[in-house]
Parts: sequence; C-alpha cells; structure tokens
Amino acid sequence: MAPSWLAASLGAGAGAALVILWQRFLSQQHRLGEGSLPPRGSNTPMAPVNTKGVLSAGKVAVIVGSAGGIGRAVALRCVKRGMKVVLVDIDAQDAASVRMECVATGASEENVVVIACDCSNEVDMLAMKAKVYELFGRVHFLMNNAAIQTNNKCGPYEYPDRWRKILDTNLWGVYLGGMAFVPQMIAQDEPCVVVNTGSKQGITMPPGDTAYNVSKAGVKVLTEALQHQLRSTPSCKVNAFLLVPGCVNTMIRTRGDKWVQGEAFDPTKAQDERSYDGVQSRDYSAKKWKARGAWSADELVDELFGVIDAGTPFYIICQDHETTRAQDDGRIQWSADDLIFRRAPLSRWSEQYAAEYKEVAAKFI
Ligand SMILES: NC(=O)c1ccc[n+]([C@@H]2O[C@H](COP(=O)([O-])OP(=O)(O)OC[C@H]3O[C@@H](n4cnc5c(N)ncnc54)[C@H](O)[C@@H]3O)[C@@H](O)[C@H]2O)c1
Repeated sequence: MAPSWLAASLGAGAGAALVILWQRFLSQQHRLGEGSLPPRGSNTPMAPVNTKGVLSAGKVAVIVGSAGGIGRAVALRCVKRGMKVVLVDIDAQDAASVRMECVATGASEENVVVIACDCSNEVDMLAMKAKVYELFGRVHFLMNNAAIQTNNKCGPYEYPDRWRKILDTNLWGVYLGGMAFVPQMIAQDEPCVVVNTGSKQGITMPPGDTAYNVSKAGVKVLTEALQHQLRSTPSCKVNAFLLVPGCVNTMIRTRGDKWVQGEAFDPTKAQDERSYDGVQSRDYSAKKWKARGAWSADELVDELFGVIDAGTPFYIICQDHETTRAQDDGRIQWSADDLIFRRAPLSRWSEQYAAEYKEVAAKFI
C-alpha cells in the first residue's frame, strides 16, 4: 500500500494517482531484469527411434476410440497398409460400421475385429487385451485415442459428475491402455509404438472446458514419462508418441452435445464428420469444416504416419487450415512465459494482458 498519510494529505485525485504509481513500482520489483531470461538449449529435435515397419502388412493395431473421427481414419489407413486391426470403442454400433468400411476397402473379415469396451473400466480393458492376444498373439501399434468433452461447459468445480467421467475416460482410459499392453509389447522384443492422443488444450489450457484440459495435460505428462522410461530401458524396442491434433472434423463436439444436453439434444444441429446443419453427408460436412479451418482426419493421419515412419519427433503437434506452426509455437511460448514472468495464469485470456497479447500474437507468422 502507498503510505496512507501521504495519500490522505494530497486529496482524493492525487491520492489515487499515487496508489497507481506505487503499484507500478511494486510490479517493477517483480520483473525480470534485462538479460535475465533463462538461457535456452538447442533446438535439436528428438533423435529418431527405430519404428520402421511397425505400420506395415501383417502387424497388429489396437485403436481405442475408433468408432469415428481420428480413430476411424487411423483404422482405415492401417487396413490400407495391410495391418490387422482391432477396433475398440464404447460405441459398438459405430465401430461395426467402421469395420464394414475396412472390409469394403479390402481387409479380410478375420483381420478386422470390433471389441466393445469402456476404456475407463479396468475389467473391460484387461478382458479386451486378453481377447486381442488370443486372436492375434501380438500387438505392434497401440493407440489410446478415446475421449469425451463438454464443449466448454465444465469449469472448475462445476458438474462433478462430468469431471469424473471426463477424467475417467480421457486420462484413466489412456493409463489403463498402457498398463494393459505396454509390458507385453516390451516382452515381444520387436519394434512397437504407443500413441496417446492429447490436445493443444492440454498445453495452453483455454478456460471453459477445464476438466478436458486437466485430462489432456495428464495425458501429456503420462506420455512424456512413458517415453522417457521406454528409452531408458535397455534394449527396449517400444517407442511412444504424443499426438496433439489441431481442429479436426470429427464427431467429438456432437458426441459432447449429446451427452451434455441429453433428451434436449437436437440431431438437426449435429455438426460433425457425418452431418452438418442437419445435412447427412460426410462430404458436405467436410467442406463446411474445412471452411472453418479444420483438417480432415485423413490429413491428420498423413502427419501421424509420417512421424511414426520417421521415428521422430515425440510431440506430433498438428496444424490445421487456420493455425500455423508459428502460431502454435507462439501460444505455447506465451503460456510458458506466464510462469517465467510471474504473470496471471491464463494471461492470454486476461483483460490486463489483452492488448499486449494481441500485439505479440500478430507477430506469430
Ligand atoms: N477433433 C478435434 O478437433 C480434436 C482436437 C484435439 C484433440 N482431439 C482428440 O482426438 C481424439 C479422437 O477424437 P475425435 O475428434 O476423433 O472424436 P470422436 O468423438 O469422433 O472419437 C472419440 C471416440 O472415443 C470413443 N469413446 C468415448 N468414450 C469412450 C469410452 N469410455 N470407452 C471407449 N471409447 C470411448 C467414442 O465413442 C468415439 O468413437 C480424442 O482423444 C480427442 O480428445 C480431437
């Protein structure tokens, strides 16, 4: 506080000005001095890990969360490469229709199977794993991809039931997938890959869907620790990647609306990979979503498979049709700087920093 006797003796207007000056003086005390930014290391990406051949004919893929969207596109691409595919999802009906698509593109009936499973349920997941090994004997590619969200309707301490379901599905489900498969994949002693699907929201944390952000931040931390453990394990041939999609045209928002709105959900408002503004057509929806800047799930799979084939980098941060690499990097840097500069958390969405953020973000090109 500014000395109160001085403020009082100066009168109301001058007193207020003095308080502002005093606060500025105090905030300067907390600023980093010139040249005191932490030194940064080199920008050398992760050395490649040998994952060649993992996504190739005869290998086995288990995709948790594959009844639509990104998981569906990954499954179809695996089939195209001649892989055997296990479609794991809580939505057995949609998963069965993805299976039909896989068979229609040339997969043999016995090489694409659906296993209905709630990824948040340990008993379900262990039974699913047992079934997979019984059917195929090996697993080379595990993708923990299932998630749900509420479309910005789950802030701190709102809806504890939604929080629990989101964390159980998005984070605990990823944990259970790794727990069920990774030890046996290591024991197989051949190149294998685990991909966990995170989100940019788990890195930059926009306010709104906090439960989702927490779950995806957890997936990032878990996957980083997993990759470190795998590469530190002598002769281990399993590698892990964190997939960070940009905006992708999928069912996730519509599934979220259905869940949150319950009976009140209006299917004519569905905006997803199969319908948009009530019009049932993947092509129509894709066009609308592209105009809004979204990638198709296929574009994302191009990126994902390219990275796995190359064995690097660990962070597969995808762009979309409106967000550039420079924008992603700038936003990540801004978030990290909240800590380093002792700014308000989530300062990107704070009144105090709005003008400054706008000015800085204009340079993210
Ligand atoms: N679409 C995007 O813009 C976007 C952006 C960032 C991250 N992601 C992430 O990508 C991943 C795939 O999502 P999508 O966009 O393809 O959405 P999607 O809704 O089409 O796919 C998610 C799948 O997970 C399944 N699932 C949900 N709960 C489950 C449970 N308890 N057990 C088993 N399966 C369950 C759903 O049935 C669905 O098939 C998710 O992890 C999502 O968070 C998507």
